[in-house]
Amino acid sequence: MSAQSQKRRLNVRDLAAMKGDRPIVSLTAYSAPMARTLDTDVDMILVGDSLGMVVYGMDTTVGVTPDMMVAHGAAVVRATEHACVIVDLPFGSYQESPQAAFRAAARVMAETGCSGVKLEGGVEMAKTVRFLTERGVPVLGHIGLMPQSVNAAGGFRVQGKTDDGARRIRADASAIADSGAFAIVIENTVEALARSLTEELKVPTIGIGASLACDGQILVTEDIVGLGGDFTPRFAKRYAELGEELRKAVGQYAEDVRARRFPAAEHCFSPPTKGSIAKPRLAAVSSKAIVAPGAKERRGA
Ligand code: KIV
Repeated sequence: MSAQSQKRRLNVRDLAAMKGDRPIVSLTAYSAPMARTLDTDVDMILVGDSLGMVVYGMDTTVGVTPDMMVAHGAAVVRATEHACVIVDLPFGSYQESPQAAFRAAARVMAETGCSGVKLEGGVEMAKTVRFLTERGVPVLGHIGLMPQSVNAAGGFRVQGKTDDGARRIRADASAIADSGAFAIVIENTVEALARSLTEELKVPTIGIGASLACDGQILVTEDIVGLGGDFTPRFAKRYAELGEELRKAVGQYAEDVRARRFPAAEHCFSPPTKGSIAKPRLAAVSSKAIVAPGAKERRGA
């Protein structure tokens, strides 16, 4: 079944059932317009806490709050009808105890309408993942490089290169899968390890910098369309240069305004009268257009 022919929204069981059948296509979105754009082509949209860095300009994801995740998660759910929407639990909202994790997850699910939550961690989070999944909270695991632990890990490094590291990630993967996670994100991990985890685990693996061997792929959308700034992670392929396009469009707008070429007659509410050019024309906008309830009317459509 193609993504487009699916009538109802995909759920976590649909994603889990894709293992061994077809690759899971996933991307991040933090806003309604981006989510609407992705919706028909992807199976899963993650409202990742990467929004702290991508949207809010933070250096890490550590400062992201539950309020941010709820606001962006709700916007993404409202704008979509096909993709399964998963929202990240931010740092500090779930590590303290399974009960704290449940409260954080319940709030995110109730206030956004998302289909599940993602949390970072391996063996040490297994009890929490079980607590959540046994209480009706679908959990997407996240192992390998875990950005919320960047301060303890000393940076964003490729994981699983040493025997010890690989052993740890293997233990993390099976602990999270055994605790009921419906799928597991594997980040920045060597291919051989991602391949063997994908073969061994019953749940799908979703890779980000973890090779073609995974059951699915996820990337930060801004990284693949040229909106992520100058730095593109090695594992992200650039499919478009929207940043360039945006700069061009803004430059043209600025030139038009400065040259008094914009707004033209077709952007105004009444034909320009002699001598009206460059004068404020607020009087031409009817009061109805300002106070009418429809968003389109308010925006002058
Ligand atoms: O926060 C995020 O966006 C993520 C992924 C890209 C996996 O965790």
